[in-house]
Amino acid sequence: MGVKRVMVFDTTLRDGEQTPGVNFNAKDKFEIAYQLAKLGVDVIEAGFPAASNGDFEAVKNIADHIKGVTIAAMGRAVKEDIDRVSSALKNAEKSRLHVFIATSDIHLQYKLKMTRDEVLKKAVEMVKYARGKFDEIEFSAEDASRTDWDFLVKVFSEVIDAGAHIINVPDTVGYAMPREYGELIRYIRNNVPNIDGVIISAHCHNDLGLAVANSLSAIENGATQVEVTVNGIGERAGNAAMEEVIMALNTRKDYFGLVHGINTKEIYNTSKLVSELTGIKLQPNKAVVGANAFRHQSGIHQHGVINNRLTYEIMRPEDIGVVPDTFALGKLSGRNAFELKVRQLGYNLSPGEISEAFRKFKDLADRKKTIVEEDIRFVVEETIEEFRSFREGEAWA
Ligand code: KIV
Ligand code: ZN
Repeated sequence: MGVKRVMVFDTTLRDGEQTPGVNFNAKDKFEIAYQLAKLGVDVIEAGFPAASNGDFEAVKNIADHIKGVTIAAMGRAVKEDIDRVSSALKNAEKSRLHVFIATSDIHLQYKLKMTRDEVLKKAVEMVKYARGKFDEIEFSAEDASRTDWDFLVKVFSEVIDAGAHIINVPDTVGYAMPREYGELIRYIRNNVPNIDGVIISAHCHNDLGLAVANSLSAIENGATQVEVTVNGIGERAGNAAMEEVIMALNTRKDYFGLVHGINTKEIYNTSKLVSELTGIKLQPNKAVVGANAFRHQSGIHQHGVINNRLTYEIMRPEDIGVVPDTFALGKLSGRNAFELKVRQLGYNLSPGEISEAFRKFKDLADRKKTIVEEDIRFVVEETIEEFRSFREGEAWA
C-alpha cells in the first residue's frame, strides 16, 4: 500500500467570500482561482451560482477557462440550485456539485421546519436528481457536528446509495473539540456500511480557534479530504487556514505520514493575493504567513539561529516562498545578529569598529522602538567616520 494522500478542497471563493465585508468580483475570483490552480489544490469551490447572476458568471468563467483541477460549486438541496450549478459548470474539465442540507435538530426545528424523515427524503431525492449531471457529487450535512450521530450515519449511507461520491462533515459553527470531531469521523468511517471508496471530507470553522486542530484530527481519523481557505477567511471567525493545515502536514510528515498536491512555494504568493483582494491584512503573528512568522527578536534566539536555524525554526521561510528578513533588530538583539546585518548591508568593519557600532546601536535601540535599516547604516557610518578621524589625528600627532 502506498503513502496516503489527502485531497485539498479550497473554498476561499465560496465560504471565504462569506467573510463579512468581502465581495469578490468576477475578475478577483478568476485571479484567485488561477493562483489556486498554480498552488496545486485538488478542488476549487468557485461559488454559489444560485446566489446571483454575477456569481453564476464568475463560476462559469472559472469552469470555462481553468483546467487541470476539479471545479466545484455549491447549491441547496433544491432542483433550481442544482440546475444553476449544472449550467455554470458545463464546460469544466471535471465538475463537482456540492449540495447541502442541514441535519441537526436545532437547524431542523428552527430553520428548515422539517422532520428528520423529510430531510432524509429530500437529501436522497436531490442527490438522485443530480446523478449523471456532474462528474462528482459531494453531499454536505450542514451542522453535522451537532447532529445525532446515528441519524448522520443513516443520511450518509442513503445519499451514498443515491450517488454521492464525497460526504462532507461540517463543523458549521466551530463547536467541536479536536478529539470529539476525530471520533465522529471515525464513527462515520466504521458505521456507514457503504463507505468504501467514498471520500470523507472535513470542513471546520474557527469560532473557538480550533478549525486547524479539528481538521488535523479528522485527517488522523480517516478523513481523506480537507476543506480550507487561504488565510483562514470565511463566515464569522473563518475556516481552517490552508497554509496552517498544509505546513502542519509537511512539518510533521513524520507524524502524519501523508502526502498532498500543494506546491508549498506558492503559499506566500497566494496568501498575499488573497489579502490584497479582500483588503484583509494579516495579523503580524499569524502562523506561517504573518510578517513575524520567521522573525527572531531576542538576542538569544538570534544567536541560536545564526549558529543553526534548527534551534528556533521548525519551517524554512523559503519553503513557503518567502525571502526572509529574519532578524528584527532591537534592544534585545545580540552582537552576532547585529554583526551579520552589518555584513549583509555590505560593510566590512574591524573588531573595534563593530564593538563601537554595536554600543551605539544598543543606545539607539533603547530610545527608539523600531530600528530600520537606515538606523543601522547611520550608526555604522558614524562609527567609521569617528575611527577615520581618530586614525588621522594619530597620524598628525
Ligand atoms: O459550514 C458549513 O456548514 C458550510 C456548508 C454548507 C458546507 O459551509
Ligand atoms: Zn462552512
